[in-house]
Amino acid sequence: MIRKILKWTGLVILFIVAGVSVATAFRQHLTYTAPYPGIKASADTAIIAKGRRLVLGPGHCVDCHSTVKNVDSLLGRGQEPALSGGLPFKLPFGTFYTRNLTPDSATGIGGMTDGEIARVLRYSVKKNGEAVLPFMPFQNMSDDDLTAVISYLRSIKPVKNKIPDHEYNVMGQVIKAFLIEPTGPTEPVKAVVKPDTTIAYGRHLVMAVANCNECHTKRNGIGQYVGEPLAGGIEFEEEGKATLISPNLTPHPSGRIYGWSQQDFIKRFRMGKIIKHSHMPWESYGRMTDEELKAIYKYLKTVKPVDTNKK
Ligand code: HEC
Ligand code: HEC
Repeated sequence: MIRKILKWTGLVILFIVAGVSVATAFRQHLTYTAPYPGIKASADTAIIAKGRRLVLGPGHCVDCHSTVKNVDSLLGRGQEPALSGGLPFKLPFGTFYTRNLTPDSATGIGGMTDGEIARVLRYSVKKNGEAVLPFMPFQNMSDDDLTAVISYLRSIKPVKNKIPDHEYNVMGQVIKAFLIEPTGPTEPVKAVVKPDTTIAYGRHLVMAVANCNECHTKRNGIGQYVGEPLAGGIEFEEEGKATLISPNLTPHPSGRIYGWSQQDFIKRFRMGKIIKHSHMPWESYGRMTDEELKAIYKYLKTVKPVDTNKK
């Protein structure tokens, strides 16, 4: 009797495994539809300059899309870091490479229309219709942010750099097949957001451009927000070892910045990375202006205080 049951459960498990494997193989290249945002790159130097500030500053695209080590010293010498991609992310699901954002037509974004690039950022759908991996939560960027970013990318020097394909392991293939779906904006997208030192602009930076919430709000395994906004608590690990936990940024006595003045906050960003293996893109954020940092500080003062001392 027992033997018979074992035999049957064995067969059932075998069928399930076979079924999942076949479905995984069939679902590797699912495609999605999403609208093309009506974004047009501009040759206006003020718009390009704004895009450059976003890419090298709060938007921190340069952190992932360049392999240049010391961007600040390059900029200090009047040179631009090449945004030619290729930075590898070695994760438990495989190894993933950032793409070449220079206008090279074969290996960069030269072969993409403005609408196709904008759709990647706003709706997480690639030119070929597949979902973009959830590394870039810029879905709520405004139309004028996207216009500026794409105008800047169109203006930089093309670099030929062929990026390797992503390498998915078995777990990665299952995740890609069943869990990765494109995400779109979570609120009505604005056409224009004026940069100033208001709480509203601070919120826009924190939630849509600099994406502080990406690391300072707890998320589940597939990137959905599950924790109290900006209360920290994400545990980072490297090569399987726990390293750092993102701190609570809410205005509660248990929060990291509770006693910090606006001046302390700005000063901290000017100091750059202190903990060597911190995941926070301190270099790019350090290029934010005092005005941008003031807006962020003011916004953080208005979010719901969360007590992270009590468990
Ligand atoms: C945290 C790292 C990270 C940051 C920051 C980042 N990217 Fe990416 N980007 C990636 C990765 C990884 C891919 C590859 C995604 C994939 O193939 O699904 C990618 C792919 C892309 C693509 C190409 C998608 C395609 O069609 O293959 C574009 C365009 C892009 N990023 C633009 C940007 C811009 C613009 C910014 C800044 C506003 C930015 N990225 C910031 C990691 C990042
Ligand atoms: C990629 C993940 C990531 C992003 C994005 C991120 N942080 Fe962090 N942040 C961390 C981690 C990890 C730490 C703890 C290590 C450290 O202090 O560098 C941290 C620490 C901090 C600290 C405490 C620093 C100190 O010295 O005590 C502040 C303040 C902070 N983050 C603010 C922000 C703000 C504001 C943004 C958005 C502009 C942001 N972070 C975006 C991961 C991130």
